[in-house]
Amino acid sequence: MISIVGSGRVGASVAFLCVSNGLDDVLLVNRNKDKAIGEALDIASAIPANSEFSIRGTDDYSQLSGSDIVVITASVGVYMKDRTENMELQVKMIKEIAQKIKRHCPFAIFLIVSNPLDVLTYFFQKESNVPRFKVIGIASSLDTSRFRYCISETLSVPQSSISNALVLGEHGDSMVPVFSGVLVGGNPLFSMIDSRESITEDVRSYWKKLRNFKSRSQFGIAKNTFDVIDSILHKKEISIPASVVLEGEYGENDVSMGVPVKIDQNGIFEIQKVKLDDIESSSLKKSSEKIRNYIQSIHT
Ligand SMILES: NC(=O)c1ccc[n+]([C@@H]2O[C@H](COP(=O)([O-])OP(=O)(O)OC[C@H]3O[C@@H](n4cnc5c(N)ncnc54)[C@H](OP(=O)(O)O)[C@@H]3O)[C@@H](O)[C@H]2O)c1
Repeated sequence: MISIVGSGRVGASVAFLCVSNGLDDVLLVNRNKDKAIGEALDIASAIPANSEFSIRGTDDYSQLSGSDIVVITASVGVYMKDRTENMELQVKMIKEIAQKIKRHCPFAIFLIVSNPLDVLTYFFQKESNVPRFKVIGIASSLDTSRFRYCISETLSVPQSSISNALVLGEHGDSMVPVFSGVLVGGNPLFSMIDSRESITEDVRSYWKKLRNFKSRSQFGIAKNTFDVIDSILHKKEISIPASVVLEGEYGENDVSMGVPVKIDQNGIFEIQKVKLDDIESSSLKKSSEKIRNYIQSIHT
């Protein structure tokens, strides 16, 4: 069973993809029970006729019992200028959710989607005591999708011609697009652009641009989250960047941030080391310091 805690825009979009692709049973859990039931009733009409699975909504955390995967998309409010705006409240929320989950499905794999992503991934893992490789923060893969899109738009090339695009570090303003390994049609991206600044700025501020036209994003993160759920349930290995609590990898401790990982049916099984140039290495160090400072500033 796939359980999704928080049935707002993102939670409902993830549920829609899981249900319409007949992945597994889906449980929506929301603070406001009516919202979970309403979304479940709507999405239930997308169950394929040949599916053996269904969807239901509740506010009762005890129904999480038996979950194989739990996706956390709960949020107490909408940030306007920065993903860390509601940080204290979001940390309090994730700690409460972690306590409840510990009672009902401690052996599931947990995908954290709520913001501020890296800080919440860290606190969820610490509060729940779930092994760190079973707590996966999903965001750097979304940032990587955006990076690929920005390269494709800048150079007017299809995304299929771009390889090795990767974004690491914070899901926030200090995220680090890794340009040095990117190939476009087999040639180094660096041979086609004057500097990395403009694309970096486009990727970092992508969500702000989107908000000029739409209240907030939902489909890109839903697809990136669905891909991870699909790989876990269908035992298909994938390599993506994701946030995970680090214990020495990339020279980091006491922090969770986006790094390249391999995922299979048991969660993360490897943190991969990628080659970075000097600018990327020092930007990643700054990014981890920024997340660590946020973590240390929390008093809830
Ligand atoms: N990782 C990424 O790349 C990425 C991308 C996009 C969005 N996000 C994040 O994803 C989160 C969800 O975004 P959204 O647009 O879906 O927000 P949303 O529409 O406001 O939905 C959030 C939902 O969480 C529910 N909720 C709040 N506290 C809860 C709790 N303790 N238990 C269960 N449900 C609870 C809310 O319930 P009520 O109906 O009672 O208010 C609401 O339905 C946000 O933190 C957002 O920043 C992350």
